[in-house]
Amino acid sequence: MILEVRPSQGLRGTVRVPGDKSISHRAALLGALGEGITRIDGFLESEDCLATLRCLSLLGVSIERLAPGSYEVVGRGRQGFQEPLSVLDCGNSGTTMRLLAGILAAKPINAVVTGDVSLCARPMARVIEPLRSMGAEIYGKAQDTRAPLTIIGSRELRGRVHELPIASAQVKSAILLAGLNAKGITVVKEPTQSRNHTEVMLQYLGVPVRIEGLSVTVEGGSIPQGGHIIVPGDISSAAYLMVAGTILPNCDVTLANVGINPTRAGIIEVLRSMGADLAVRSEANDGEPRATIRIRSSGLHGIEIKGDIIPTLIDELPIIAVAAARAQGTTRIGDAAELRVKESDRIAVMARELAALGVDIREQPDGWTIRGGQRISGGRVCGHGDHRIVMALAVLGLGGDEPLYIKGAEVVGVSFPGFAGILRDLGAQIEEREAGS
Ligand code: S3P
Repeated sequence: MILEVRPSQGLRGTVRVPGDKSISHRAALLGALGEGITRIDGFLESEDCLATLRCLSLLGVSIERLAPGSYEVVGRGRQGFQEPLSVLDCGNSGTTMRLLAGILAAKPINAVVTGDVSLCARPMARVIEPLRSMGAEIYGKAQDTRAPLTIIGSRELRGRVHELPIASAQVKSAILLAGLNAKGITVVKEPTQSRNHTEVMLQYLGVPVRIEGLSVTVEGGSIPQGGHIIVPGDISSAAYLMVAGTILPNCDVTLANVGINPTRAGIIEVLRSMGADLAVRSEANDGEPRATIRIRSSGLHGIEIKGDIIPTLIDELPIIAVAAARAQGTTRIGDAAELRVKESDRIAVMARELAALGVDIREQPDGWTIRGGQRISGGRVCGHGDHRIVMALAVLGLGGDEPLYIKGAEVVGVSFPGFAGILRDLGAQIEEREAGS
């Protein structure tokens, strides 16, 4: 599919972004692990999260769709999972694969976990090694560094202290979920705080979790209790609308029910520091705080973005690069080498596509230097099979100077079904066309 984007202005209106991807995965997985029934509302029905549901169904978990975004998951609790009849296919979803690896390592069944070409190229030693150090039997392609993963689960895992070399919520969560079914206590210490949705949800579902600074502890034998999880809107999806509403002229956009967990909300701080007019009005807080965010057009200026804030906006860096391309002055983004091992090498891919459109962007090992304010040309660009690259380029096209055509746009459904439709509702000129039409 091709996304055809025309320079636009005057985005106006109130919209709700779809449910948070990270929280939706966790709601389904913890519901399945738990005792009793978990009701989920606001579940993100995107390719990634639907892959999690399909894997859980293959593990014998009963999941009923009550209405769009509303599900009931019957926890397997002490009964455990069924051995799957076929390979568990996580599609493009790193969260599904890494969290499932942690869960399955400590269950007495065998499973093979795979994914698409992108996911099978992403690093898996970061979960294989710590799980093995707890006694797990888990193997991967390419000398145990890549998927497909073969997991020979066991009830005999032992808790231990893990010091993570990088801040990764997927790795932290995989270890904590294995720790729930290991003997003794499991501690994860991170170098900087990554998103904490697993810890927050475990506590919400009644599992004791000790959090001291950057260290999280769980005890083996703890089982989540079914509950009602209301998933907030995804700030990572809201980020495209925030940047569009800032860099396009004559905008006044309101986003309702956006999750603003501080371990995720770095984009708000960064856009404000660049000069954006963002008003954040807090709403409910059940452990996952939510807010209504109002955005109006503003002139941006370049800043430096690095250090501890990076994990709180890691998925937003492609769209922040777009904001930087439309800002006056230079933006330097560093400490973000993790971007190279996401759904694509986001540092290389953004540098290549933005440079092709006339942006003054220099690629560094851990980020970019971007001098904003140049004319943005149009033409054809490639989404590189990466949902966040397609959406970032689309917003650049809306704020550019000529029509832009983005190839491979169907991958947007990985995290943000309805992306183009929501932008159109706000007044943007953006159309999805079948390739070749
Ligand atoms: C996620 C964690 C992040 C993020 C990913 C989703 C999660 O990766 O990039 O899109 O749901 O735990 P890390 O594991 O590198 O933190």
